[in-house]
Amino acid sequence: MRHKVAIVGSGNVGATTAHWIASKELADVVLIDIIEGVPQGKGLDLLEAMPIEKRDSSVLGTQDYADTANSDVVVITAGMPRKPGMSRDDLLNINHKIIRDVIEKAIHYSPNSILIVVSNPLDAMAQAAYKLSGFSRKRVIGMAGVLDSARFRTFIAQELKVSVENVTAFVLGGHGDTMVPLPRYSTVAGIPITELLDGKTIERLVQRTRDGGAEIVKYLKTGSAYYAPSAAVTEMVEAILKDKKKILPCAAYLQGEYGLEGLFVGVPCKLGAGGIDQIIEIKLLPEEKAALEKSATAVQELVGVIGV
Ligand code: NAI
Ligand code: 2OP
Repeated sequence: MRHKVAIVGSGNVGATTAHWIASKELADVVLIDIIEGVPQGKGLDLLEAMPIEKRDSSVLGTQDYADTANSDVVVITAGMPRKPGMSRDDLLNINHKIIRDVIEKAIHYSPNSILIVVSNPLDAMAQAAYKLSGFSRKRVIGMAGVLDSARFRTFIAQELKVSVENVTAFVLGGHGDTMVPLPRYSTVAGIPITELLDGKTIERLVQRTRDGGAEIVKYLKTGSAYYAPSAAVTEMVEAILKDKKKILPCAAYLQGEYGLEGLFVGVPCKLGAGGIDQIIEIKLLPEEKAALEKSATAVQELVGVIGV
């Protein structure tokens, strides 16, 4: 059975997500953007790469949401990225307006889809999308934890000079400066990193993870990261389309889990064909719980500003 994924926003993250999805032949892809010609040009260019890649994914760029009809997954990347000196939160009002515009159109044509929100500030935009869509909480998922955990995994692998394949890591909380990397649940070949690295080194890697987005913005100057973010989206899309029941850190609407109510926060989720099959509650130490609550408060403040 062929799957269909719509990607709203054909900028760096959107187009690169299309690239990963098509090159893995996960689905047919429809790219949308408000800038005329951009999705069409990128879509056609990517389609013309398929004979070389030996992939039969179709890729279409368009301004017309009718072309996205009956998508299994809709990925929302529309919005402004960060520029140097900007926090993710500076994007709040600009991107909220864009989310309002795109969600309505996207769900009109794909009422049974699963939404993956990427636009920043992530948790607040996911919450806006959830409220606007009226979808069940299983079908609105924010992408951040897979990216933040991948950054943490990269730094752990570099530090210990081991294969990235040996490293697992969990980063919970909101996608911002208060995110909560969890060293106790981060392992190398099953061994917690707390057994392998001293506290000072772990704290340095944790801080670099928190600053991971800003580190790339500082280099790029005109935008933010997109290779790792789009790879992270693709891992989530694959878990859904293949009903893999894969446990990944995702922003989910909590209804009592972790003691949090009515808020999108990053937590471990089992992803399958229906979206979030299960929110996994892991035991946290008091200081980890306090860090998660602090992160949730930061999300709550943003959500309060836009009233969602
Ligand atoms: P970009 O500027 O390269 O692309 C954004 C695209 O959205 C542009 O092509 C723009 O024309 C389009 N757009 C704007 N309004 C639109 C509308 N109403 N309908 C359709 N398209 C519209 O930005 P980039 O780098 O792709 O980032 C996209 C968003 O994702 C930003 O908000 C960024 O902060 C966020 N992001 C989030 C990450 C996460 O971990 N959650 C990681 C990386 C980026
Ligand atoms: C990142 O973490 C900007 O949120 C984006 O790279």
